[in-house]
Amino acid sequence: MTQVYTVRIHDRQNNTYHSIQVPDDRYILMSAENQGLDLPFSCRNGACTACAVRVLSGKIYQPEAMGLSPHLREAGYALLCVSYACSDLEVETQDEDEVYELQFGRYFGKGKVRAGLPLDED
Ligand code: FES
Repeated sequence: MTQVYTVRIHDRQNNTYHSIQVPDDRYILMSAENQGLDLPFSCRNGACTACAVRVLSGKIYQPEAMGLSPHLREAGYALLCVSYACSDLEVETQDEDEVYELQFGRYFGKGKVRAGLPLDED
């Protein structure tokens, strides 16, 4: 049976707060759009980090978020375009490029990127 959770979103770009209802079998971004929200996105398939948020409370499931390293997932970041709510949630959008910088910025400049991207760094 489908559970419906309340997801509170702080859109930091516009400094607005929203509360939406999200079934546990629907992507959060899609549910937000269906309820009239205009949130950042680009690829819609978990690859680009444009839709990244920081999870302030609650549990999220994002098995297809290939654009986020395990380290950033553990640090509380999520990609709304491929995320499911597993509880009521509170999230906040990130500044443009913030997650990209966290994930890759320190590598480019230090010569650590040789072949491919460091998504599975320990
Ligand atoms: S829109 Fe690209 S990762 Fe979500």
